[in-house]
Amino acid sequence: MNINNYSYYQPQLSFSSTRERTLDENGNVLFCNYTNLNREDLDWGKFARFLNDRYQSQEHVNINLHGCSDGSDAYTLAINLIKELGPNAKKFLPIKASDISKSVIKTAKEGKILLHSKDLEYLDKMGARHYFERDYNEPVKIMRDIEFYPHKVTKELKDAVDFSVKDVMESAKEQDISNEVFLFRNGWTFNSLEKQNQLAKDLKENSNRKTLVVIGQSDLFKSDASDSLQRNGFKGIKSEIFTEKETDYPSKSIGQPKNPPLYPKEYLLFELDK
Ligand SMILES: C[S@@+](CC[C@H](N)C(=O)[O-])C[C@H]1O[C@@H](n2cnc3c(N)ncnc32)[C@H](O)[C@@H]1O
Repeated sequence: MNINNYSYYQPQLSFSSTRERTLDENGNVLFCNYTNLNREDLDWGKFARFLNDRYQSQEHVNINLHGCSDGSDAYTLAINLIKELGPNAKKFLPIKASDISKSVIKTAKEGKILLHSKDLEYLDKMGARHYFERDYNEPVKIMRDIEFYPHKVTKELKDAVDFSVKDVMESAKEQDISNEVFLFRNGWTFNSLEKQNQLAKDLKENSNRKTLVVIGQSDLFKSDASDSLQRNGFKGIKSEIFTEKETDYPSKSIGQPKNPPLYPKEYLLFELDK
């Protein structure tokens, strides 16, 4: 298989801290770890308050965040839980963040992250800049003409996220996620349609009524996540947490459905139907 590595170039598209992606010989994206702080498809403050309400009666709640890339989603969630819930955030922490990529997890475990101006603006707006320190020992990296500033994650935030290497497919098979939160956002399309269907089946097997499954907006556009989950016994939860703010973008990947969706494509949050 002929695999090409090249920098991600998306003219006219929403600003993002995309790193690199890998294509197969047919131009399908095989791997992409695009991410940034505060991905705007979710209202993270509302999401934190929703989790608080949903799990009010539990003393501890595991949040499993698969396909975490450099940790941006996990840090965003941790910052919002702490801001919104104060001491109550503790019952959700540390977030268990994982990715199939050994290299992104190695960097994340070292507490390193590249942040760009939008990330920093967001942190300032949240009063959360103190969670990251500029690392002047590392050079500024320029990708797609955007400057990325090397940062170190400070201890308070680092302690709130526990990183490991995991394939979400294996975890979903093996892990009981009763009373837990399971996020796999914006990564479904890099897995075949068969695997996506199997993932939804395994999640169903290992869930109970309190389990919450969360996907991303690009999973709605670019994968079978929504249909797979609804076909296999989940129902969508309608809520204002899903903002629909992300821009669609053209790309091909192995996990894009060939047929139009059968179920409503309007949810990012799912729970068991019965
Ligand atoms: C586009 S990034 C999304 C990162 C982050 N969740 C977000 O929404 O910004 C997709 C990530 O999913 C990961 N991924 C893809 N397939 C996976 C699998 N089977 N198991 C675990 N991680 C996977 C990739 O390595 C990549 O880092």
